[in-house]
Amino acid sequence: MYRILFSLVFRHMDPERAHHLAFAVIRILPRLGLSRLVSRFTMPRTDLHVKALGLTFPSPFGVAAGFDKNGTAILGLGALGFGHVEVGTVTAIAQPGNPRPRLFRLIPDRAIVNRMGFNNEGAASVATRVEAARSARRRPVIGLNIGKSRVVDVADAVADYRVSARAAASVADYLAVNVSSPNTPGLRDLQAIESLRPLLAAVKEEAGATPLLVKIAPDLADDDIVAVAGLAVELGLDGIIATNTTISRDGLVTDEKVVAAAGAGGLSGAPLAHRSLEVLRLLREHVPGTMCIVSVGGVETAADVRTRLAAGATLVQGYSAFIYRGPLWARSINRGLDRMSPLV
Ligand code: FNR
Repeated sequence: MYRILFSLVFRHMDPERAHHLAFAVIRILPRLGLSRLVSRFTMPRTDLHVKALGLTFPSPFGVAAGFDKNGTAILGLGALGFGHVEVGTVTAIAQPGNPRPRLFRLIPDRAIVNRMGFNNEGAASVATRVEAARSARRRPVIGLNIGKSRVVDVADAVADYRVSARAAASVADYLAVNVSSPNTPGLRDLQAIESLRPLLAAVKEEAGATPLLVKIAPDLADDDIVAVAGLAVELGLDGIIATNTTISRDGLVTDEKVVAAAGAGGLSGAPLAHRSLEVLRLLREHVPGTMCIVSVGGVETAADVRTRLAAGATLVQGYSAFIYRGPLWARSINRGLDRMSPLV
């Protein structure tokens, strides 16, 4: 049904307009009082809950950062079957993001290119919205992902992240530090250990008892990934989210002209799966079994989620396949996991 809708309607629409349309429908679910009814149909039937970060996740599968940037659809996304929603990326200073067009589909690759540039309403106002969603009787686990404000110099990033962390820490179930999006100049340089150490130490101070994770890029060399893993352990972080989008365009089957026309930005979706799984395996080798690893990148099916869990992921997230597979995507993953025998 969704596939027909996608090929007849959505694929001919501007991707960002299509996103806003779908988003409006998701937002409306709780307002119509339909959340409970819908979640009976979408949530796992068997007990798939995961205990991690001191929290209980009703499903191991959640929606990755960037889908609900301002925390306006948390309850609707929960009703659709996502066990957690990572809101954001938010920045200390509200910002409009890059000029449009900034979101592109590479349909033959089941991939997306985006250079959204952290369009968001600012950490303080999004935190207020997250706080409101927290009081709902039925809600997913809510993470809040923070990044650097564009107008702030990379040299002043620590103070800027501190402002967002302070706003987010008291309302979110967990905090994610994003140093891996390719669309804010200089942001990914913060992954270098000498920059990352003071940044994460400062955010940890602000986070207090709220679990803290760092989100990394797939384009880091393996040695750098191992170094970040070591730093996360050294600083007592609660977890690592791997991975963000890639700047690589290798191995795509989409017409070169279409890829070139999309231009710069982060690539996500199916082509990212291989590297994302590789990074997961590498991380799992280098952090204690108790450290939470959230695997994200190219996940499309319940079998993919299962593969990530078997490779050592604690939780799994996705974004791009939501665009290609539609509103029942999380449900189909939960149902698929229901049918599989539990991992021992
Ligand atoms: C993203 N992603 C992202 N990540 C992040 O940490 N902060 C953000 O604001 C965004 N924004 C964003 C916008 C769009 C349009 C996309 C497609 C992606 C990255 C996302 O959370 C995830 O890490 C990657 O998309 C890889 O997962 P998938 O899409 O392959 O399942």
